[in-house]
Amino acid sequence: MNIPVQKELFERICILQESYTENNIVSVQQFSFEALTHLMNLISCIHVLTENNAMPPVLANKILAAIFYEPSTRTSASFISAMYKLGGSVLPFIAGMESSSVRKGETVVDTLKTIAQLSDLLVLRHPEKGIHTTLVANIFSPLINAGDGYGEHPTQALLDLYTILREKQSLENKTVTIVGDLLYGRTVHSLIRLLHHFENVHIQLVSPRDLALPREYYSGEKETESLEEVIGESDVLYVTRMQRERFKNPESYDQYKSLYLINKDTLHHAKNNLIIMHPLPRVNEIDPLVDKDTRAVYFKQVKNGLYTRMALMCLLLFDRNSHFYDFF
Ligand code: NCD
Repeated sequence: MNIPVQKELFERICILQESYTENNIVSVQQFSFEALTHLMNLISCIHVLTENNAMPPVLANKILAAIFYEPSTRTSASFISAMYKLGGSVLPFIAGMESSSVRKGETVVDTLKTIAQLSDLLVLRHPEKGIHTTLVANIFSPLINAGDGYGEHPTQALLDLYTILREKQSLENKTVTIVGDLLYGRTVHSLIRLLHHFENVHIQLVSPRDLALPREYYSGEKETESLEEVIGESDVLYVTRMQRERFKNPESYDQYKSLYLINKDTLHHAKNNLIIMHPLPRVNEIDPLVDKDTRAVYFKQVKNGLYTRMALMCLLLFDRNSHFYDFF
């Protein structure tokens, strides 16, 4: 494989910055199709450079503050790892905002305004849907939405899109089946919006009626409660967890938790070149025996997430005029 030269990396970052000029990522709706295309190209360039130990430390002087008001393992670890891979540093508090001055009554705006003085990029996960939109009107530092309640999760969806395009080459005439909790699953909300950019992609939504996709994200897709009915036609199967923590009535969780179990039997009629995706964590949606199936790509998604977040940080933070980049 040809390793892209670092000059190509520089050019790809610059092209992306020209097509995406905002300093925050709140919703995938901020991406035009052109910006998405440039982003996908940049991710694949970073992917190859990093795997070949040839990625230059382009954010050597930058500091990330990852602020999580909701639990997170892989998303926070992914952002932190991405910043280290780019040569930057990370403020050592990420999760556990319950031990912070929030407990003293400080507002999120004040916390972020303060941390923004000490860092170059804020990554925020918060239980309130839409909070990032309010925040960017008050905080002018670069900000990335790492999940806003049951709203969106743009960076996860961008890594999901990268994974689909990498595994399937294109979305042209492909059938993407999304199954599980489509009401509260924020990764699905962002992913659906991204898929709407592509023509000739066929989307099938599988969920119990009570957990159907909210109409604000819906665009006439086929909806069904039966996975069996649609799995055979699928090229991509995107499985999600029932978002128990967001259920108004916890008893209804028990009713749904094992509704769509992916195992050897479920996959019996699936295509040989299907890909099985999941944003993780899984609870009981996918039998661990499926991990050995070559169609399972959910751990690859995690690796792709690292490269995606590296690309997004380059997009927001790379300063093309800095003397640091003499090595280009
Ligand atoms: C997802 C999330 O937090 O929305 N996880 C993740 O970020 N990879 C999905 C989930 O929690 O089910």
